[in-house]
Amino acid sequence: ALLRGIADAMVEEMERGLRRAPRAAQDAHQLRRQPPNREGESETLFLICRALVHGHLRNTSAVFNTTPLSGCWDEQGLFYALDLGGTNFRVIRVQLGGRDKRVVKQQYEEVSIPPHLMVGTSTELFDFIAAELEKFVRTEGENFHLPNGKQRELGFTFSFPVHQTSISSGTLIKWTKGFSINGTVGEDVVAELSRAMERQGLDMKVAALVNDTVGTLAGGRYADNDVVTAVILGTGTNAAYVEHANAIPKWTGLLPRSGNMVINMEWGNFRSDKLPRSEYDKSLDFESLNPGEQIYEKMISGMYLGEIVRRVLLKLAHDASLFGDVVPPKLEQQFILRTPDMSAMHHDTSHDLKHLGAKLKDILGVPDTSLEARYITLHVCDLVAERGARLAAAGIYGILKKLGKDKLLSDFSQQRTVVAIDGGLYEHYKKFSACLEATLTDLLGEEVASSVVVKLANDGSGIGAALLAASHSQYAEVA
Ligand code: GLC
Repeated sequence: ALLRGIADAMVEEMERGLRRAPRAAQDAHQLRRQPPNREGESETLFLICRALVHGHLRNTSAVFNTTPLSGCWDEQGLFYALDLGGTNFRVIRVQLGGRDKRVVKQQYEEVSIPPHLMVGTSTELFDFIAAELEKFVRTEGENFHLPNGKQRELGFTFSFPVHQTSISSGTLIKWTKGFSINGTVGEDVVAELSRAMERQGLDMKVAALVNDTVGTLAGGRYADNDVVTAVILGTGTNAAYVEHANAIPKWTGLLPRSGNMVINMEWGNFRSDKLPRSEYDKSLDFESLNPGEQIYEKMISGMYLGEIVRRVLLKLAHDASLFGDVVPPKLEQQFILRTPDMSAMHHDTSHDLKHLGAKLKDILGVPDTSLEARYITLHVCDLVAERGARLAAAGIYGILKKLGKDKLLSDFSQQRTVVAIDGGLYEHYKKFSACLEATLTDLLGEEVASSVVVKLANDGSGIGAALLAASHSQYAEVA
C-alpha cells in the first residue's frame, strides 16, 4: 500500500508537470528545425523541442517531440558522444551505416574524474574533459571515416538538471550527485564545452545536448521499438518516458496532437510526505552539498546507499557497541562506505561472512568483528538496498500507470512494454535489481507483469546521444 501511495504521488506530480507544459510546447515549436529537403530525412527527424516544463517535479524538465525512433534512423557517418554525469565520463565514437547497417563500429573510453575537479572551477572541469576528448579523437585511426571537409560532431550527454534552450544549448540549473562547481549554474554548458575544445585545438561541434535518460530512451528505442521509458539507476537516478502529445492538457495546437513527446522527469528531485524518511535520510540530506534537494535520489541511488548504511552502523556502534567498546574512527567519515563495497558485503554467501568481515576491516579499520556484528551489518545492507529498490520500483510503476500500461488490455492482445534501465547500481548490484524486478511484478500483478520487460540498456545513452547528434547534424548523409 505504501508503494502504491508513492506511485500515485508520482503520477500526481507528473500530471502537475504536464499541466505546465503548454508553454514549453510553444517554445518548442519555435525552435523546430526547418522541414528537411533531403528525401527520407523527415521520417528520421527527431524534433527536439525546447524543453521547459517549468516546475515539473519541482524542477525544470526537458520535453522532446519525436517521430517514431526505431527503424527510421537513416543517417550515416562518424559521430562522437561524450557522457558526463557521474564519477566517470565516457567518450564514444560511432560509425553509423544507415537504416540497415545501423551501428557499424563503435569505440569508447572511460575516464574517472579526479575528485578535486568535481568541486573545483568550471574551466578546470571542462578543460580536463576536452583534453581527454582530444586525446581520444587522435586515436581515431582508419577504421572510422569522416568525409573530407566535414567537421566532427558530438552528442553531449550532460546528466544534470538543465534548462534546455535549443537542441544544442542549455543552462545548468543546479549541480547534483556530489558536483559543486562555482560559476557553472546559469551558464550554457555547451558554450563552456565548446570553449574548452577550442582551447585544446579540437575542431568539433556539439550537435545535441541531452540528458542521460533521454539518450538511453533514444538508444533503447533504436534497438527495440517497445521501449516506453528509460530509467537511470547509477550514481544518481532519473527517468524519461514517451508521452502522447495529446495527454498534455490545454494543448495549444501548435504541435501535432498525434505526436509523441519524451519527458525527462528529473524524478530524483521527487519528494512526497509518503516517502518513508528516517532520521538517517534526514541527517544525510542536511549535511549534503544540496540540502532539501533530490530527496528521492538520496534514498535510492548509488551515491547514497552506502552512506545510509554507514550512518546506521555508526548509530549502532555508538548506542549498542556494535564494533566493541571503541567506535571505529573511520566510521565517522562521510561517504567512506561506497555502494560497491556495500554490495560486495551484501553478496557475501560464506557461512561466517568472512568477506564482509574483510571489507569492514579494510574500510573501517576494525581488526576483528564478531559474527553477530557481521550479520547485523548484512541485515542493514539488506534493508537499505531493499528499500531503495522498492522505492525505485514504485516510481517505474507510477510511469506505467500514467501510461495506462498497468492494466490488461480488454482484447487480450497485451502489448509488450519495455523499460530500459542503465546505470552501475542496477547493472552490478544484483540483489538490488532482483528486488526491483520482484517488486514491480508484485505491483503489476503476475499477468500484466508478464508483458513488461525490464532490460539493461547499458551504453544506450552513448549511442543515443550519437544518434541524436546525427539526426541534428549538418553533415550526416542519409542512406
Ligand atoms: C541526477 C541528475 C539527472 C540525471 C540523473 C541520473 O538526478 O539531476 O539529470 O539524469 O542524476 O544520472
